[in-house]
Amino acid sequence: MNTSLYCHPHSTVNFMLVPRLRYSIIMAAARKPMRLKELEGYLQDVEVFENPKVKLEQYPTTPHIAACMLHTITSTYDDLVDKTVADLGVGCGVLSVGASMLGSGYVLGIDIDEDALATCSANLDEFEMTNIDLLECDVKSLASSEVVNRLHGKFDTVIMNPPFGTKHNQGIDMVFLQAGLKLSTNSVYSLHKTSTREHILKKASDWGVDVTVIAQLRYDLANTLKFHKKKAVDIEVDFYRFSHKR
Ligand SMILES: C[S@@+](CC[C@H](N)C(=O)[O-])C[C@H]1O[C@@H](n2cnc3c(N)ncnc32)[C@H](O)[C@@H]1O
Repeated sequence: MNTSLYCHPHSTVNFMLVPRLRYSIIMAAARKPMRLKELEGYLQDVEVFENPKVKLEQYPTTPHIAACMLHTITSTYDDLVDKTVADLGVGCGVLSVGASMLGSGYVLGIDIDEDALATCSANLDEFEMTNIDLLECDVKSLASSEVVNRLHGKFDTVIMNPPFGTKHNQGIDMVFLQAGLKLSTNSVYSLHKTSTREHILKKASDWGVDVTVIAQLRYDLANTLKFHKKKAVDIEVDFYRFSHKR
């Protein structure tokens, strides 16, 4: 069968199911609502891409932005606690780690890049996360492949900071969004360039999903992609919630 599902070499089943150590202190804290600043503090210890790949748009979500996103998702929409969550383009795992800290029941992080997944795996070990698995897979295949069809509708919530489609991969953010909508039964949280807002709102309407622009953020690409030649590359980014109509 033709498939673009890539299994990690250490996988014992189809997915890269990474064995996790038991972790206690942070999860115990997650039973109580974690404060925004506390979450941001923990996320500062998540290691980022060692050699970010420009073509894959490997800029990490900053601890501040990740904490703001996740805190809003749980405090305003109650879409994390005890939920099954998929993180598309998990990278080094800052969103997955934060979601787990805030009490998600289970998280699956998906990325195309094995180097990113290796760093992510090390982060999960460091944080002793037991409820996060990783899958090496091209998100483009999630919209179509028969093999990954069985993931469809398996997650309450999808979170992501997708590639924006600025590196000769125009439209990749919309592919991520479509995949997220297929995987989720409830909601998808995502970041997209503000300049594409009109297009995204139209697509959401075409697809029959509800959409809210929760916030507009400034994203400092120069700080995240350290090798970027320009001094400052602040871009305006929208934080969205998409939800399936009931
Ligand atoms: C902007 S980074 C975000 C990383 C991480 N989620 C974070 O918040 O720090 C985008 C991620 O998407 C991954 N990616 C790019 N193209 C992909 C594809 N076609 N399928 C799966 N992952 C992809 C990259 O490797 C990268 O880790």
